[in-house]
Amino acid sequence: MLASLNTLVITGIDAMPVKVEIDIQSGLPVFDIVGLAQAALKEARERVKSAIKNNGYQFPNHRIVVNLAPADIKKEGTHFDLPIALGILIASGQVSMSLGYNYYFAGELSLDGSLRQVPGILPMVLALMNLAGEQTIVIPSANSREAGLVTEVRSLASNSLAEICSFLEGQDTLTSVMASGSETYSPPALQPDFGDVRGQEMAKRALQVAAAGMHNILLIGPPGGGKTMLARRLPSILPEMSREEVLETTRIYSVANLLNPDYPLVNTRPFRAPHKNASSASIIGGGRIPRPGEISLAQNGVLFMDEFPEFSRDVLEALRQPLEDKVVTVARAQATSTYPANFSLVASCNPCPCGFYGSDLECHCSPPQIQKYLGRISGPLLDRMDLQVEVPRVNFEQLRGNSNTESSEVIRSKVQEAREIQYRRFSRYKVNLNSEMRSSDVRRFCVLDSESESLLKQAFDKLNMSARGHDRVLKVARTIADLDHSESINMPHLAEALQYRSLDRKYWK
Ligand SMILES: Nc1ncnc2c1ncn2[C@@H]1O[C@H](COP(=O)(O)OP(=O)(O)OP(=O)(O)O)[C@@H](O)[C@H]1O
Ligand SMILES: [Mg+2]
Ligand SMILES: [Zn+2]
Repeated sequence: MLASLNTLVITGIDAMPVKVEIDIQSGLPVFDIVGLAQAALKEARERVKSAIKNNGYQFPNHRIVVNLAPADIKKEGTHFDLPIALGILIASGQVSMSLGYNYYFAGELSLDGSLRQVPGILPMVLALMNLAGEQTIVIPSANSREAGLVTEVRSLASNSLAEICSFLEGQDTLTSVMASGSETYSPPALQPDFGDVRGQEMAKRALQVAAAGMHNILLIGPPGGGKTMLARRLPSILPEMSREEVLETTRIYSVANLLNPDYPLVNTRPFRAPHKNASSASIIGGGRIPRPGEISLAQNGVLFMDEFPEFSRDVLEALRQPLEDKVVTVARAQATSTYPANFSLVASCNPCPCGFYGSDLECHCSPPQIQKYLGRISGPLLDRMDLQVEVPRVNFEQLRGNSNTESSEVIRSKVQEAREIQYRRFSRYKVNLNSEMRSSDVRRFCVLDSESESLLKQAFDKLNMSARGHDRVLKVARTIADLDHSESINMPHLAEALQYRSLDRKYWK
């Protein structure tokens, strides 16, 4: 006998409908799952078998074939447990199903038949929202709040296989998920403040520019100058997230299984700070069961790589493509997954192994040692660092003085204003922020007067700038002009942007 149920499959951070067809024929007992089911999905067989038996049903002692269609997409995930178990119960005549075709099922089963939270519910609900007609999805209770973020789709939550079976038979109702939308969560917690940092006005300014346009920034300087301290204060000046950004980022955390079931919403900009020993798969993404890496978890926020040259060469080189494309494609056996990776990279480093090269203290490293150390940040990677800033040691007077420094709140409101200018300018275009402009956008939105044009030409020749460097300087200049509420990019804006591109001449020779 045959049964067929709907579920969805996750590809990257999207979901698409999949049919689960179950055929039970007499013959030797086998239980097979076909249709590009990956190894981990095949583990569903053991859970499904136990869950069925432990809920007082019979597991059919026949030939069971589960087909997942369409067959050309790789299927991964534990949420197939529920539709497979239901299909077996229906196909073996133990449960009758009176529901229409617009019902979808997703959930992991424990051996006792209770339902467990699964990753990817938000993308699934979003995909159903885009289908014609009214759709209903049956999900584990632990995913309720996440499903409730999307008000347009009806979600029913349950704790157990048995309960869902009696619902199918019309004997029981399931809890309807309260549509909460994405407005009901708490504001960001208190964070360390820029007001604590003495001196370092140039670095603070550059971080403000980076935050306003989502540019990349490299902080370089001797130990103890405050690089880590500065970077860790960046979240306190990041602008609010738009609703689209919240949903986009939350969706990635959903797929990565990192949402808190009670507050399943990423509504403060991510600040990810992976350790320098972290593997390439954890930073870039991928793995046996593919997952988004740190660069995707930093979506719409910041990826902070402290002691940048000490990350593995693999990681540093693999960063180049996503830094350019703002998406990452991770390949694995026979298939690839694509995840968003639009973040501002904040990297910090010492200029040499001892840390004092180029400072007022004596450096004990040999030139080859210095070149080897800095050489780990390759030319093409350095070229992607829009703002390169020196963070020198603060002197005694700066440290002890009580000169007034701007608080994070003041800086944040300037950043917020600059963002709003960008949103307005790009409202009819595909990009949202200056850092996202493509070459054609740069030509349209970064027009220079003749004076600035000749400054750019001089710098281009003197700094041996690449075409990429050229575009990046103009994008930064655009952000500086926006912070200045200036429609046009003027000489001082361009000059400041150029000043952030000159460190490689000092350290990388
Ligand atoms: N500009 C500053 N104003 C106030 N305190 C500072 C400043 N710079 C450093 N400090 C103090 O020194 C501590 C160490 O600074 P931090 O760790 O940020 O230095 P770093 O540049 O990252 O050094 P390293 O290269 O060794 O990693 C800070 O936690 C802070 O207490
Ligand atoms: Mg540090
Ligand atoms: Zn040194």
